[in-house]
Amino acid sequence: MDIKKVAVIGSGVMGAQIAAHFANAGVPTLLLDIVPQGADDRNVLASGAISKMIKGSPKAFVHNAASKRVTAGNLEDDFDQLSDVDWIVEAIIEDPNIKSELYQRIDKVRKDTTIVSSNTSTIPLSRLVQGLSDSFRQHFLVAHFFNPPRYMRLLELVVGADTKPAVLSIVEKFSDHRLGKGVVHCHDRPGFVANRIGIFWMQSGYAAALASDITVEEADAVMSSPVGIPKTGMFGLFDLIGIDLHPKIDASMADLLPADDAYHGQRCDLSLINQLIAEGYTGRKGKGGFYRLNRSGGGKVMEAKNLKTGDYAPVQKVELECLKAAKTDGLSGLLNHPDRGGQFAWRVLSNTLAYTASLVSEVADDIVAIDRAMTFGYAWNAGPFALIDQIGVAEFVAKMKSEGRAVSDFLNLAAKAGSFYRTVDGALQYLGVNGEYQKIPREEGILLLEDIKRKSDPIISNQSASLWDIGDGVTCFEVHSKVNALDMDVMALIDQSIELIPKSHKAMVIYNEASNFSVGADINAFVELIEQKNWQQAEKVVAKGQSTFLALKRSPFPVVAAPSGMALGGGCETVLYANAIQAHVESYLGLVEAGVGLIPGWGGCTAMLERYASNKRLPKGPMPIVNAAFETISMAKVSGSAHEAKDIGFLRPDDGITFNRDRLLADAKASALGLIENYERPEVAEVTLPGPTGKSILAAAVRDFKARGLATEYDVVVCDALADVLSGGEAGDVMAPLTEEDMLALELKNFVGLMKNQGTLDRIQHMLKTGKPLRN
Ligand code: NAI
Repeated sequence: MDIKKVAVIGSGVMGAQIAAHFANAGVPTLLLDIVPQGADDRNVLASGAISKMIKGSPKAFVHNAASKRVTAGNLEDDFDQLSDVDWIVEAIIEDPNIKSELYQRIDKVRKDTTIVSSNTSTIPLSRLVQGLSDSFRQHFLVAHFFNPPRYMRLLELVVGADTKPAVLSIVEKFSDHRLGKGVVHCHDRPGFVANRIGIFWMQSGYAAALASDITVEEADAVMSSPVGIPKTGMFGLFDLIGIDLHPKIDASMADLLPADDAYHGQRCDLSLINQLIAEGYTGRKGKGGFYRLNRSGGGKVMEAKNLKTGDYAPVQKVELECLKAAKTDGLSGLLNHPDRGGQFAWRVLSNTLAYTASLVSEVADDIVAIDRAMTFGYAWNAGPFALIDQIGVAEFVAKMKSEGRAVSDFLNLAAKAGSFYRTVDGALQYLGVNGEYQKIPREEGILLLEDIKRKSDPIISNQSASLWDIGDGVTCFEVHSKVNALDMDVMALIDQSIELIPKSHKAMVIYNEASNFSVGADINAFVELIEQKNWQQAEKVVAKGQSTFLALKRSPFPVVAAPSGMALGGGCETVLYANAIQAHVESYLGLVEAGVGLIPGWGGCTAMLERYASNKRLPKGPMPIVNAAFETISMAKVSGSAHEAKDIGFLRPDDGITFNRDRLLADAKASALGLIENYERPEVAEVTLPGPTGKSILAAAVRDFKARGLATEYDVVVCDALADVLSGGEAGDVMAPLTEEDMLALELKNFVGLMKNQGTLDRIQHMLKTGKPLRN
């Protein structure tokens, strides 16, 4: 069965965003909620939630057009419409009786094949289906999304004794392929997997902080990047989730978990938390929480709560020695350090990791499911078992024993075996609960560079990039320089690849598995050139990028770019010069050079003109093309998704979009394979441009912007250079098109021209220092 239409019931925090994500996947979605007493608009809850999402941040919709696929309704007038949908997602208030009553009503109208799922975080499935019909129970499961559902990859699936395997399979396949979820199968236990561990970790951390003299900001500095956990750390996460939820979650876990569960031993006095809640400090949604922004006296001071006195004080820079140890010796350096940060980290992590190791068979089938749950649901870089491997399982167990602490059988087993994960013959294996290693299965259509690297060496490589063989004649070009910046080594390896590929392979995919595809050229290198006034070298660097990208585009084999995350500046140009694009839905593309006082110089201006020239939505004639490119580049537009990138014009209408990050490489490879047969390299592109008249129209518009206070003095300088390029400069002529080579020469001239201005240097230095553009 295909999922063609969905209904989501409950338009609160989760329901509304889940509906949005189904709409993102192209599925018409009905969003129903209760009718508030006395409401004139009976759909006010659902329709209000949709409007709020269109304006809100982070964006729930990949494109505002997707919001049109969500129809608002209410549970009184529109209930019969549930007979028409394939999947009903229940996301109402966490109350088993209210949920059960709703299911009874649903069972009376649903088609016999309609799947029903609950987004419950805590209620066991067995409790939810009590008293319901056989058919309902056969088509029911828990599908637990994480907040925010568009961005958090985890989807926990829990089936009951009666759930049909086919129902699970339909939901799993749809969620994986269409919603892009990392599905984890969980057992029907309180909190399932991620929250069972995550709540323990937070509660344990809170108790440990109260019992020591560590400060809030120290605890977060320790319990974040040194451990591979997002920078919110622990207290920042309390603020993000909402502090008011914690006492409820704590009570519910205490109630649901068996008396011998280690969670009980982590519980502590929550009076400080209760006091924060009583005073309205419920976290980021309230007046603040463990952190608050103090705006008194017109200032803006970030303050942190003192756990002992209960007072707020300005956030202090954390200078713990253990953080230095973590930098040099990794996780073990941190955990073995004797200062209060090291002791805190050891206490919290050893508690959490040991607890997790004792739970494997109870909450899931294997450690892979648990590690995936924590990486996808809590955004940890490594799950609990991968963390123990980083410490060394024998060392971990020895330290636990030296402290006289109990060690679970499974940990002892792992200590004997050596590690939870190992690589054999280039394949990753995990330790099963039976003590046997097993291969980690990869589903069809999941191809990871991480796996390819385990079993092979690159075809060619230097310190910034590598070329890999990904099978079937296709290669993968991977950038792996610091922060994936594009430097001359990257260009050199592209050149070598262009030479080599036709001799042994048939296509290239440009892809990497970092969180950002590439944030562009290394601007530090530009500062050096500017300070040395080395214009000759500057020209060489720009010309090199141009010739390499052009050669890439015109190579005899197809090149497919597969971005995910940010692809900015030169990173965006890399994508623009590929012959086709297969983008991850979370692709943020932009030509943002204006922010550092420059214009795209590696062909970005030329490529955008070419794209707009073939854009059927634009009126005919050169000026609409020039205007579109000018707007995109001068405003440094960045797409909020691959769909928006299509709208802006970075992606062509027939470029592909992949929702599941793990399927991106396979999809890009398939796209490349599809292009191989009868592949013809693109002709030299030509664009017809208006020349000086067009340039003066743009110049006048910019001056008008400046007069209205919408552009700064230096914006005018940058925009004039951009106008010169996009209009075709002096040579632009509506009767005589310009070639790509002509255009690239214009880009080069204007790029280096801008480099010579103090205004550009000021912008670059400000960006390097603050990460924000200077409005000079
Ligand atoms: P919420 O409080 O934002 O929304 C609850 C929704 O239930 C509202 O739309 C409300 O109008 C509706 N509702 C209230 N009484 C109702 C009734 N008698 N009949 C039908 N609908 C009624 O709650 P939230 O956070 O969206 O949670 C919804 C579900 O998702 C809960 O089961 C929760 O445990 C779960 N969940 C919540 C997460 C979160 O971060 N907030 C994360 C994952 C799961």
